[in-house]
Amino acid sequence: MPYRKPFPDVPTFVTHLECTATGERHEVDELHNLSRAGKPLLVRYDLAGVKQAVRREDLAARPFDLWRYRELLPVRDAAHIVSLGEAMTPLVSLGRLAPKGGELLVKDEGRLPTGSFKARGLALGVSMAKSLGVTRAAMPTNGNAGAALAAYGTRAGIETYVFCPADTPEVNVSEIALQGAKVWRVNGLINDCGRIVAAGKDKMGWFDMSTLKEPYRIEGKKTMGLELAEQLGWEVPEVIFYPTGGGTGLIGMWKAFAELEAIGWLGAKKPRMVAVQASGCAPIVKAFEEGAEHADFWPDAHTVASGIRVPAAIGDFLILQAVRESDGFAIAVDDEAIEEARAEVAGEEGLLLCPEGAATFAAWKKALAEGRIGAGDRAVLFNCGSGLKYPMPKVTSSLDITKPFDAAALA
Ligand SMILES: Cc1ncc(COP(=O)(O)O)c(C=O)c1O
Repeated sequence: MPYRKPFPDVPTFVTHLECTATGERHEVDELHNLSRAGKPLLVRYDLAGVKQAVRREDLAARPFDLWRYRELLPVRDAAHIVSLGEAMTPLVSLGRLAPKGGELLVKDEGRLPTGSFKARGLALGVSMAKSLGVTRAAMPTNGNAGAALAAYGTRAGIETYVFCPADTPEVNVSEIALQGAKVWRVNGLINDCGRIVAAGKDKMGWFDMSTLKEPYRIEGKKTMGLELAEQLGWEVPEVIFYPTGGGTGLIGMWKAFAELEAIGWLGAKKPRMVAVQASGCAPIVKAFEEGAEHADFWPDAHTVASGIRVPAAIGDFLILQAVRESDGFAIAVDDEAIEEARAEVAGEEGLLLCPEGAATFAAWKKALAEGRIGAGDRAVLFNCGSGLKYPMPKVTSSLDITKPFDAAALA
């Protein structure tokens, strides 16, 4: 990607923020967490204005990063953009593992700054926080979001406070600390960390950057859908498998496809959205199967795929709506299948997935075997983080990889 000169100013089209439960309008250009009804807020745009202002052909002249979609993003003044180089992520084909006549693609988000798709959300969230005068922010995290908050916050001159579950791997905690945040391990899971952030808000004067508790991280995650449609020549795949914790990416992509249709860049065809969870923490799957609108809290949540270990999600009803509207489904896979999937994709295709990404492959296999998707479908799996940030599954090799090479073996 050529060096990007400072960001140009482009017209912006944000009109208001809308409560996802009541539709009540909230003003933009001021700080918000949840709506007055206590639900997530979504950014709304003058889409007719966007349609007039930019054609999809205009994108050809723009750098290959998420800021190419500026007219569909909320940052008004280019001077507020906080960027670490959010490059477009590749679609990697799993040609050997795909069934005949079908297509299996991985959108590999591990190539982003801080090694995960959390960079998209935090690039937007932190840029907006900076533009609205935030100087201190806090967040609960399973690791990757905290790393992105730390990095972007430091770059923006915002002090950051990060809380993660006690068993968060050392590499994540160190990465967060090294990138400038104050980070604590907490006895409990991500929802316990979230409670600390909420409780300390007034005393510490920090802005709560929890996912969907501020309106802008989702706008960054939305760019996964914009990018995917553009990469496929303004087509969408038949089905998307998304590792679902808080579900921001799934909700964001669903929003992206609706906005693209409204500005005439996509037709009416939409992908089926599949929410993938781990059997040890599957509140959305349970709610989907029970036909419920909201998900119950999942007790004793556990899985190797820590990014999707979210026992209660504030956007649960939005995930379920998107899955149902798209004629998709929610599916759970166990940790054994996740580890096997990781080894299979790395060993067969040379692509190292993170456990959450591997969960989507295991779920795709299961859905195919159960006839829930077609063999001829084009399926896209989301690998949301770099496989290198996680402990490796046990390697099955004919060699003992713990022993040094013995030159006598060649004699
Ligand atoms: C690697 C990875 N995959 C998936 C997720 C879940 O993302 P979402 O909150 O959009 O459901 C996370 C969140 O921490 C993650 O780090």
